[in-house]
Amino acid sequence: MRHVPPSFTTLDLPRQIAIDGPAASGKSSLGRALAARFGYLFLDTGLMYRAFTLAALRAGVPPSDPAECARVAASFDLRVEAAADTRIFVGGEDITPLLRTPEVEANVSAYSAIPAVRTQMVRIQRKVARRRPAVLAGRDIGTVVLPRAPLKFFLEASEDARALRRRAQASSWGTSQGLDEAHRDISGRDVTDSTRAASPLQPAKDAIVIDTTKMALAEVIAFATEKVLCAAG
Ligand code: CDP
Repeated sequence: MRHVPPSFTTLDLPRQIAIDGPAASGKSSLGRALAARFGYLFLDTGLMYRAFTLAALRAGVPPSDPAECARVAASFDLRVEAAADTRIFVGGEDITPLLRTPEVEANVSAYSAIPAVRTQMVRIQRKVARRRPAVLAGRDIGTVVLPRAPLKFFLEASEDARALRRRAQASSWGTSQGLDEAHRDISGRDVTDSTRAASPLQPAKDAIVIDTTKMALAEVIAFATEKVLCAAG
């Protein structure tokens, strides 16, 4: 865990930073960078929904059975380690490396649409955000999880740009994804995530929207860092 550089200790930095946006828009890369720069915790909430998805698939419970999913969610032994990066433990097992498989990818949006699943996850997310200054990345952080967060970003990028980024990321995760497959996955999840009744993906009214289509990651980080410092006054 990095410590807050002394020059920041006199600033009144926003305690919570929300980053939302569609699939592969760069939320985690930005979140991790801001957390490292300011000594915050980083919680990638998408990993929590992925962990639930893996648990439900392992238990043979389909997303079409919300009552049974609610039961799995209620007894879900999930532990979240939010530090400079996020790690997820279920029943004591670190399952972080298992959360990017095609099977999880294909099912996560359907499970995430179930209100009882979201209630459990949001409770844990708020607890983490109360503990220490934190950056949370997801779909509903600025709208539902931390509606009073003093600083909110909403990242956007064209589907083409996001599919290219996801293909590049996939190889670093040890999975492989062709461009067509990346397009299909991203557009499918975008539709489900934006049209669901419970906490749909949408920018909070007070979010700073950043279209990253033509921006390098370093530019996005520099822009957002500036906004954090401005928010500190
Ligand atoms: O990494 P990527 O942006 O592709 O996705 P993710 O952040 O890992 O999220 C995976 C899925 O979890 C999303 O497509 C949503 O269905 C769900 N999710 C959500 O519903 N709410 C959140 N706060 C975070 C993720």
